[in-house]
Amino acid sequence: MSKKVVLAYSGGLDTSVAVRWMAQEWQVEVVAVAVDVGQGMDAAAVKSRALAAGAVEAVVVDAKEEYARDFVLPALWANARYEGKYPLVSALSRPVIVRHLVQEARRHGAAGIAHGCTGKGNDQVRFEVAIRALAPELEVLAPVRVWPFTREDSLAYAQEHGIVVSASKTSLYSIDENLWGKAIECGVLEDPWQEPPADVFTLTQQTANDSLEIVIGFDAGVPSTLDGRSLGLTELIAQVGSAVGSRGFGRLDMVENRRVGIKSREVYECPSALALLMAHSDLEDLTLERDLAHEKARLEPRWAELVYDGMWFSPLKEALDAFMVSTQRHVTGEVRLKVSPGGLCKVVGRRSPVALYDHDLATYDASDTFRHQDAEGFVRLWGLGIKTWAARQGGIGSRLSQPGSGQ
Ligand code: ARG
Repeated sequence: MSKKVVLAYSGGLDTSVAVRWMAQEWQVEVVAVAVDVGQGMDAAAVKSRALAAGAVEAVVVDAKEEYARDFVLPALWANARYEGKYPLVSALSRPVIVRHLVQEARRHGAAGIAHGCTGKGNDQVRFEVAIRALAPELEVLAPVRVWPFTREDSLAYAQEHGIVVSASKTSLYSIDENLWGKAIECGVLEDPWQEPPADVFTLTQQTANDSLEIVIGFDAGVPSTLDGRSLGLTELIAQVGSAVGSRGFGRLDMVENRRVGIKSREVYECPSALALLMAHSDLEDLTLERDLAHEKARLEPRWAELVYDGMWFSPLKEALDAFMVSTQRHVTGEVRLKVSPGGLCKVVGRRSPVALYDHDLATYDASDTFRHQDAEGFVRLWGLGIKTWAARQGGIGSRLSQPGSGQ
């Protein structure tokens, strides 16, 4: 009996060709596993496409809730945006996909796991590092990295072997989508000087010409209401996305640094992710104590970088998660977002039963709870070291004429 391999199957051209090619060239039995993370998957169609391509079995796993709860939510808590911009759409989905690939590999007694990534991207890194973390005994196979096909060759191979690939799967762009957003690459986008053509966008087409306000409620870091209605996480993510997306909000156009040393031009549509991240971090501003907030802000970019680099299952990421989780118990309240035509979205209000904002303390109106006289001694001691230092320099006068003194 030939050995079994589980393939991360998307239903697209490359992984469909990979099913047949691995069976032929490597004499393996391919179990195709497609994981639904909210990319809009037609399970029956994907299954029959995999079987038609030559898979011995095809499995479709609905992982949307799990993905939202165990992967997207921690990213929200970490306010995660790689290089300050990209909300990690593809990077977040790979570890949940791997979790299911490993489960299926064990269930089928497979010897290895295959993926359809090329050698140029980050996704191969994420798949392989995660597989080795969860199942070091399994072999890792990357057919697309070793076969000699160009895209045209793959199309010809598919045609020759009767592999059906739908028109959308042969589009000009390489698209990766899940419930946290969409990454669009290839074609004219590879020229970073060219503006992305309007037709690449599907989640952020402006369909309304008036401004819109929405209120997002968080309960210990978990977004749980929209305009006062309680919603499950995946439903809330979808509804926020279509609300802000309908005013054109949620696009990113950036040059980013891949883990493999390549700079690439990336276009993203992440209306819901960007709106929820904006609301969430604003609510943290209202509810997190200063030192905690500052330390968290230092750790957030590290969290994003680790996840981008494929280190979801790693001790540092685990430790940072524990930190993030501990901060979220304070993050309860509501945030008002205003989104206007042209893709503008901003926070216009926030409130919380556990806000650290105290109107009596903050107001410049006459107030009796704040002891103004306490400030004098505090400021004197705060500046004492500087006063001493300045005296040793011969006083402020000598500094007034120095560069940068404004004189
Ligand atoms: N550059 C992004 C990332 O590395 C997007 C990757 C999209 N993946 C894809 N197979 N098209 O996370």
